Amino acid sequence: MEAVTAIKPLIRVAALSGSLRKTSFNTGLLRAAIDLTKESVPGIQIEYIDISPLPLINTDLEVNGTYPPVVEAFRQKILEADSILFASPEYNFSVSAPLKNALDWASRPPNVWADKPAAVISTGGGFGGGRSQYHLRQIGVFLDLHFINKPEFTLNAFQPPQKFDAEGNLVDEAAKERLKQVLLSLQAFTLRLQGDGSSPVQVTSVEEIVLKDNNKANFTISGSTSKSINGGVIHVDVEIDMTHLFNEKYDLCALMACPVAPGAFVLPLDNIVPFYPMVKIRVRIDIFDDSKDSNHIMCLTFEIKRESSFAVSG
Ligand SMILES: Cc1cc2nc3c(=O)[nH]c(=O)nc-3n(C[C@H](O)[C@H](O)[C@H](O)COP(=O)(O)O)c2cc1C
Repeated sequence: MEAVTAIKPLIRVAALSGSLRKTSFNTGLLRAAIDLTKESVPGIQIEYIDISPLPLINTDLEVNGTYPPVVEAFRQKILEADSILFASPEYNFSVSAPLKNALDWASRPPNVWADKPAAVISTGGGFGGGRSQYHLRQIGVFLDLHFINKPEFTLNAFQPPQKFDAEGNLVDEAAKERLKQVLLSLQAFTLRLQGDGSSPVQVTSVEEIVLKDNNKANFTISGSTSKSINGGVIHVDVEIDMTHLFNEKYDLCALMACPVAPGAFVLPLDNIVPFYPMVKIRVRIDIFDDSKDSNHIMCLTFEIKRESSFAVSG
């Protein structure tokens, strides 16, 4: 007996707050966004990236094209993200210095913001931080960020009813609903940019089959490619209750006969062992073309969550 699930692609969002205050309202917006993704926006995973350890931008700290370790780690997080969520307080009608500092570090060559979809939200007094958003959007033009236009999200933190508690947590339900709409818009825009037909590899469906007999999971990934595929790596991460259980790598060409000719393909990924019914499996596939330098042509990430025991019958 088996259970089949269609899987939505997962997008990974890096979330940055321009405020370093412990009880920052803007950082509180990001915590609320993270909670929303867990409760009611499937297919999106937000990681909060702390920008406070970054040194002040100074190109003397760059040695032979490398950056201080904390800057390298930050740049890597941005590079790996599918899209960016900024919470941008308004400081003197503009973005805050910590946020500008982070923007500048990640803009150093190679500019790791390039071509990423983004959204900006803000809260504060007056216009709810709105003026910082327009400066951030302007900076984004040069950084090659693609901001969603709608819906806009500004929130006056000081007008009744109460918006934040003493720890800076968002407590206003109407604001949470508006925030959810921003996340849905960012998700849709990110998927649109990823799947606009310009990528040589298009995935049409991902199916998971849980085999009751041995509690193993098989995946079938169907898609098409306009380029010959000559290599790839499949990374499988398994987590239970936020604890990382294991990660494994598989050689794509051990599972499909390489080179894979242009046209339709089916990638079988058999016998991934989930160990427990309540588990989160994240699969990332890097695919390379057949040129000598193995050009990276596609990266797909998706996530499967099992909230309860396997829904299998018979
Ligand atoms: C240096 C500085 C400049 C500020 N300038 C503005 C401003 O131009 N307009 C505004 O509405 N609020 C301004 N504020 C107020 C902050 O935007 C407000 O306190 C906001 O809540 C800060 O965000 P946080 O709660 O995430 O720290 C300023 C605050 C600071 C520290």
